[in-house]
Amino acid sequence: MDESLTDVLAEYELAARSKLTQAAFDYIAAGAGDELSLEESRAAWRRYRIRPRVFRGVEGADLSTEVLGTELAMPLLVAPTAYHIVAHSEGEVETARGVSAAGGLMVVTTRATRVMEEIAAELHGPWWYQVYVVSDRRLTESLVRRAAGLGARALMLTVDLPYTGFKRRGHVAPVSGEQHLVNFGTHVTPGATLEEITAAMRQDESIGFETIAWLRDLTGLPVLVKGVLRGDDAVACLDAGAASVVVSNHGGRQLDRAIAPAVALSEVVEAVGGRAPVLVDGGIVSGTDVFVALALGASATMVGRPVVWGLAASGADGVRRVLDGYRNELDHAMGLAGVGAIGDFTRDLVV
Ligand SMILES: Cc1cc2nc3c(=O)[nH]c(=O)nc-3n(C[C@H](O)[C@H](O)[C@H](O)COP(=O)(O)O)c2cc1C
Repeated sequence: MDESLTDVLAEYELAARSKLTQAAFDYIAAGAGDELSLEESRAAWRRYRIRPRVFRGVEGADLSTEVLGTELAMPLLVAPTAYHIVAHSEGEVETARGVSAAGGLMVVTTRATRVMEEIAAELHGPWWYQVYVVSDRRLTESLVRRAAGLGARALMLTVDLPYTGFKRRGHVAPVSGEQHLVNFGTHVTPGATLEEITAAMRQDESIGFETIAWLRDLTGLPVLVKGVLRGDDAVACLDAGAASVVVSNHGGRQLDRAIAPAVALSEVVEAVGGRAPVLVDGGIVSGTDVFVALALGASATMVGRPVVWGLAASGADGVRRVLDGYRNELDHAMGLAGVGAIGDFTRDLVV
């Protein structure tokens, strides 16, 4: 390992601050309300300490794993984040180049600002699609079928955003109606007015557990439910047909004071009891954070802002360097802690 991810992320965030408009920077950086959940999500990982094992002969730890039939080079995914056009002129296409260069897996958001076809063309490995269910279900249906047709291997249904959580800074994303519409455009009724389109694209606040099976049955792809912070909800999601849950508080951007994912993870892992993989995101900023998450029972982790800072500061190369940073730090920590493979993580590795 020849550099610290902490230093890389600090450098990229600083560069993003000087390159982007204040509105763009704030949109990416902000958390909801007083940003308690934002701060705590990061701090909560750092409270854990590792209990390393010795004499395990771990030269060259194996970071590869598999989640829901998708092979991963490392247990770290690029979380779905909206509107990459605010960070880079090439938007998600540039992100996809960086992810491919790092051999990573990108979860492409419903709110991408480049057309899905162009993003998919730059993704040389498997990718997943994130779903927001909008009030005109036919729009969601068309988008999901289109993503499946382009090769998406799983659907991540985000359920913690019936509407957007209030933010004191960066509440409104600095994107135009056109940029927002780029993927929806082809699916709306020709001749529809902007008002009609906006109404059709509004989040469907009425979604319920039955939405999981509805979504799964559209394409047969496995559905992960993102935004679960309680064991009982996780079990209810699996009972309703989910293949997995993602423990997440949306990067502290929705309900302020929502529990930190690092704290909620253990309860969810215990409630799920090995029935399904559990993923987690929020405030994961180092390889040792990933290590802690895996020890607590996560099958894989996701990162949001760090990738966007890399994109803003240095395009595809920035994205690649960030992802390589996580990989190198996780590899380093696994070696020093005597963990040779992802399957060797156990709960007793952390306190
Ligand atoms: C700028 C920004 C945009 C986001 N957009 C989406 C989105 O479109 N869909 C979604 O499910 N989550 C979205 N999220 C939440 C992320 O998927 C993820 O849960 C969160 O960023 C993880 O926290 P981290 O940024 O500390 O890594 C967004 C987060 C950020 C920072």
